[in-house]
Amino acid sequence: MVEMNSRKAAIIGCGFVGSASAFALMESHLFSEIVLIDADKNRAEGEALDISHGLPFSKPMQIYAGTYEDISDAAVVIVTAGAGQKPGETRLDLVKKNVAIFKSIIPEIAKYNKDGILLVVANPVDILTYVAKQLSGFPSNRVFGSGTVLDTARLKYLLSEHLGVDSRSIHAFIIGEHGDSEIAAWSSANVSGVPLHKFCEMRGHYNHTRATREIAEGVKNSAYEIIEKKKATYYGIAMSVRRICEAIVRDEKSILPVSSIQNTEEINGVALSMPAIVGKQGVEGTVPIELNAEEKAALKESADTLKAVLHDVLE
Ligand SMILES: NC(=O)c1ccc[n+]([C@@H]2O[C@H](COP(=O)([O-])OP(=O)(O)OC[C@H]3O[C@@H](n4cnc5c(N)ncnc54)[C@H](O)[C@@H]3O)[C@@H](O)[C@H]2O)c1
Repeated sequence: MVEMNSRKAAIIGCGFVGSASAFALMESHLFSEIVLIDADKNRAEGEALDISHGLPFSKPMQIYAGTYEDISDAAVVIVTAGAGQKPGETRLDLVKKNVAIFKSIIPEIAKYNKDGILLVVANPVDILTYVAKQLSGFPSNRVFGSGTVLDTARLKYLLSEHLGVDSRSIHAFIIGEHGDSEIAAWSSANVSGVPLHKFCEMRGHYNHTRATREIAEGVKNSAYEIIEKKKATYYGIAMSVRRICEAIVRDEKSILPVSSIQNTEEINGVALSMPAIVGKQGVEGTVPIELNAEEKAALKESADTLKAVLHDVLE
């Protein structure tokens, strides 16, 4: 039996997202060893060298290009390999391409690493999380996706700009699909315990319907806008990966909207994001936040959208 090294991570896929995540993790000092794997070995080697040259300004650690044999004791395996969204392409358009890539990667991971946490980042992240769980045979708590952690950060950022308040004082979630059917859970949103609408009025904003619609649309369209302007998104997701790894490595039991396989009476047989407790065991449970009837219906619709895609992919 291989003993897991809680200070070791592996990143599979070293494109924009994988390399930005490696850089963010190097800066986080959470890990003392990071293995980089890419189908393009030169790319993994180049990224490892480039990031290593920053170590004299950071803290000592090992970051190197490796093989699947090197990941056997990695506590966290982050999968970012896959094609990215092209301008105008939805995340769901990517599905077939990236499922095929997962069919080659996930069995390799499971062959060498028996007890680690599989963190899926490649898109469509909810579909690939479900597929990774099936292909790995890992228990559900140890396979989850970055889900709407990034979308929730975008929501907090836009709200913080709107309200002139620290984004960290805002408690609000995007739930459901990381994609077009995602839902802003407005009914439970608050700023340090003050209901959102009340706080908006304290800051001189009274047109709640328009503001919430514009902000939710802004969140949903962020990726499209960034891809249109600079072809890929990677810094925001890299910080999200760092935050999730922090919760795992430090066993923080933080509540983060990661994508995990749902198992409730209303929603099951699909992975999507709900606030969940994240610690060293991975997802330790989901948190059933209060939703109004409209949000509940939208969540069910989001789950049905994902299920229809899964049905096409898995048949
Ligand atoms: N979850 C999120 O919030 C989020 C945010 C941004 C991007 N993404 C997704 O992350 C993924 C990567 O995006 P990117 O911009 O880094 O793409 P990219 O094209 O820059 O990088 C993908 C990398 O994967 C590698 N790769 C492909 N097949 C492989 C295999 N079988 N084994 C190992 N490596 C393989 C490629 O060589 C490439 O280096 C995409 O699916 C993108 O949609 C997710």
